[in-house]
Amino acid sequence: MSLIKETDYGTPAAKSDKKVTLTIDGFTVTVPEGTSIMRAAMNVGTEVPRLCATDSVAAFGSCRLCLVEIAGRAGTPASCTTPVAEGMAVTTQSPRLKDLRRNVMELYISDHPLDCLTCSANGNCELQDMAGAVGLREVRYGYEGDNHFKAEKDTSNPYFTFDPAKCIVCSRCVRACEEVQGTFALTVDGRGFQSTIEAGMAESFLESECVSCGACVQACPTATLMEKSVIDIGQPEHSVVTTCAYCGVGCSFKAEMRGDELVRMVPYKDGKANHGHSCVKGRFAWAYATHRDRILKPMVREKITDPWREVSWEEALGRVASEFKRIQAKYGRGSIGGITSSRCTNEETYLVQKLVRAVFGNNNVDTCARVCHSPTGYGLSKTFGTSAGTQDFDSVEEADVIMVIGANPTDAHPVFGSQMKKRLRAGAKLIVIDPRRTDLVRSVHIEANHHLPIRPGTNVAVLNALAHVIVTEGLVNRAFVGERCDKAAFADWASFIALPENSPETVAPLAGLDAKEIRAAARLYATGGNGAIYYGLGVTEHSQGTTAVMGMANLAMATGNIGRRGVGVNPLRGQNNVQGSCDMGSFPHELSGYRHISDDATRALFEAAWGVTLEPEPGLRIPNMFDAALDGSFRGLYVQGEDIVQSDPDTKHVTAGLAAMECIVVQDLFLNETANFAHVFLPGSTFLEKNGTFINAERRIGMVRKVMQPKNGYEDWEVTIAIAKAMGFDMSYAHPSEIMDEIARLTPTFSGVSFKRLEELGSIQWPCNDKAPEGTPIMHIGTFVRGKGNFIVTEYVPTDEKVGPRFPLLLTTGRILSQYNVGAQTRRTDNVVWHEEDRLEIHPHDAEERGVRDGDWVRLASRSGETTVRARITERVALGVVYTTFHHPNTQANVVTTDYADWATSCPEYKVTAVQISPSNGPTAWQESYRDMAEKSRRIDIKLPATAAE
Ligand code: SF4
Ligand code: SF4
Ligand code: SF4
Ligand code: FES
Repeated sequence: MSLIKETDYGTPAAKSDKKVTLTIDGFTVTVPEGTSIMRAAMNVGTEVPRLCATDSVAAFGSCRLCLVEIAGRAGTPASCTTPVAEGMAVTTQSPRLKDLRRNVMELYISDHPLDCLTCSANGNCELQDMAGAVGLREVRYGYEGDNHFKAEKDTSNPYFTFDPAKCIVCSRCVRACEEVQGTFALTVDGRGFQSTIEAGMAESFLESECVSCGACVQACPTATLMEKSVIDIGQPEHSVVTTCAYCGVGCSFKAEMRGDELVRMVPYKDGKANHGHSCVKGRFAWAYATHRDRILKPMVREKITDPWREVSWEEALGRVASEFKRIQAKYGRGSIGGITSSRCTNEETYLVQKLVRAVFGNNNVDTCARVCHSPTGYGLSKTFGTSAGTQDFDSVEEADVIMVIGANPTDAHPVFGSQMKKRLRAGAKLIVIDPRRTDLVRSVHIEANHHLPIRPGTNVAVLNALAHVIVTEGLVNRAFVGERCDKAAFADWASFIALPENSPETVAPLAGLDAKEIRAAARLYATGGNGAIYYGLGVTEHSQGTTAVMGMANLAMATGNIGRRGVGVNPLRGQNNVQGSCDMGSFPHELSGYRHISDDATRALFEAAWGVTLEPEPGLRIPNMFDAALDGSFRGLYVQGEDIVQSDPDTKHVTAGLAAMECIVVQDLFLNETANFAHVFLPGSTFLEKNGTFINAERRIGMVRKVMQPKNGYEDWEVTIAIAKAMGFDMSYAHPSEIMDEIARLTPTFSGVSFKRLEELGSIQWPCNDKAPEGTPIMHIGTFVRGKGNFIVTEYVPTDEKVGPRFPLLLTTGRILSQYNVGAQTRRTDNVVWHEEDRLEIHPHDAEERGVRDGDWVRLASRSGETTVRARITERVALGVVYTTFHHPNTQANVVTTDYADWATSCPEYKVTAVQISPSNGPTAWQESYRDMAEKSRRIDIKLPATAAE
């Protein structure tokens, strides 16, 4: 194994279709117009010496090392900033160029500490390489003059250091922060010799607005910006390309290793979802994989009040099998079920649903996607014919109007957020529909053309009002609708949407908006060129989540914004594999590829492959499992990689349901909150310890490759197989590639997918089959998957969750950049420096009315329950709206959320809860008693091995 070194072409690729031919050192080369001489030279294998240029940022031309000679031109232009021209003859090596370059390097080295041998970048430093490349052997100026050797090192960031003594002020970091990340946290301060790189307003990196994406660290050619892990462990010596296990962007990374120790994660330039960029989570927050809290041995206990007892895998698996069989014998075949994980690989998820259907003999399988994007699947399949987003991420580069609804991409999907911001800086218009003033509404060089700070729960009314403007003002794309959509469905919808009840003037007061702004936003979306909709859980997690998804699909069809680049309806998926877990047949009513379990032909296919008879009736959804547990008919549950106590709504109902069961098997990395109710704990493996695939929000299937051996001894898919075998079912696969082969055999949209094909292509966007052997970046080109696009009438039905005198405020929830989901991983990394606890955002006026000051503990009460949390006073939230994250278990934010849910999919209505806030002295009695119970439940009875003396 060796370290994968990606080629740096020096400057970004030019996008022109026009070609230019020139010669470089006598070799002829043809490249797109606009290409730099430096990049063209790389095409003939010539690496012109350089320091300030790198292909992730635009050329700057400051170091003067890359000089070349051009026949017929005076001087020695910089090859990084000089574009190619037809017939140009370039010389990259000559005695004159050699002298000039050596002089430049001499000046750099005279102000550089000569500690190469002990420098953490030794062997991987571009300054060192360039000194060698230009043949520098001595420095005539000596090292005694003015220099920066004593400049103070900034170690404030938990993950990287900034050592200005080693800085050559090439500004690659500044440009990376601006162009790649879009945060503008760095500047070059001062001039000439006095120039320095400053974070924020001459603050430390930690205090500045830096979001720790690491783009500057990656761009830095010296040891100035350096990962602390490299300083601690040393330079990596081999690497493995894999996929991030945090969010639905699905960034590719090189896991760079030293032996079996992970040194750093470097975003992979060839990664098609991230093009070499990352966020703080994927790049830096991986230490949870080796955290001391990880449970590495199976454990069992009789009662949930007993301490845990470590046992062998055989005993644990035997217990699972015997308990599940006992329960089924006593309560019936439908008395047990399983929950698949959107954190695990497709292959693992597929096996869990197979275990439930083929071995448990029922369809009681569900997934955490139930609580996030199930309305996406249903809404998009009914309108377009496919349960997934329509575009690839790169499509945003051709969008003219971007509409972001109920999503906060800069925090929750940061790499795509950066790509979107780049397009916005290049001139695309922006409409944000969100109760909260997210960073996209206004940040450096970004300002939304329209922000509609919608009242939580009124998405459908507002989408209808936008459509009303489009229909009544003659902005419908008649040609598209006439050719591509179902005419009768359109006519029904158009006459409904034109009703006065859907007008902006009617909707504005109930949504807390200005009717003129709604009209202006609708006109912009309909007439501004390519219109692309991106949305998140702020759309789906509502009692009308599915209706809102259909409403967005209606908008896209009415304006012809579907079926080409730059447009579409795009869900921003939360977890790394939420798309995959849905695709793999995790829902109780669907087999893989979204085929209904009641369909005889589909069932027959799986029955033949698995050698069993399948139940034709859909099984229980997650909330129904708890209902059934409380009525005594559901008694056993296998939960792989999910913390349903923390992530599902109405915590009291969830915990009551779990407490009523007789055997709960939790498979996870840590003793999570759900494990408090478990009888068997099976240790899980991290994404670094397994092979498989994830599917991101663009339907992109990316490879997950084993970087180190599983610390618990098994990859998760192997454990599911072992459970199946212990229950008497012969489930045998030697490798996850064999599981994918089975998925491909049984699922038409995956029929062209295999590990071999993934290795060849890097990643594949489904559908991938005979019709699309290399996958499908953009869906619905020419025709919709369902044939004609289907407009669906989307009547606004207000949620039953109403504000009133007792609960006058509306609570909505979301994520923060540095934390992820229920925080099980990110809380076990240094990311806690940015977010130690969840906070409740409250408008200054609402806070003042209640006597709440910034930082005070407040009681947050709803009809379902109450919790306490500290307040943050901010105008980011509108009057009457409060907001909190849910990353910390001690907040128990879901104690207050209700059991209202989407009418079609049971996706909980997390985003709308009527609440009241009042000053408090600290945690509630319920929180305390829950913590007490959790504390006891985590006790582990570890028998130490007998010593020789004994
Ligand atoms: S910190 Fe690194 S990238 Fe930034 S100017 Fe200094 S040497 Fe260049
Ligand atoms: S880590 Fe990212 S946000 Fe911070 S300074 Fe570097 S590029 Fe900018
Ligand atoms: S954007 Fe998402 S997938 Fe990419 S590095 Fe960050 S958490 Fe990982
Ligand atoms: S690399 Fe061209 S001027 Fe620095």
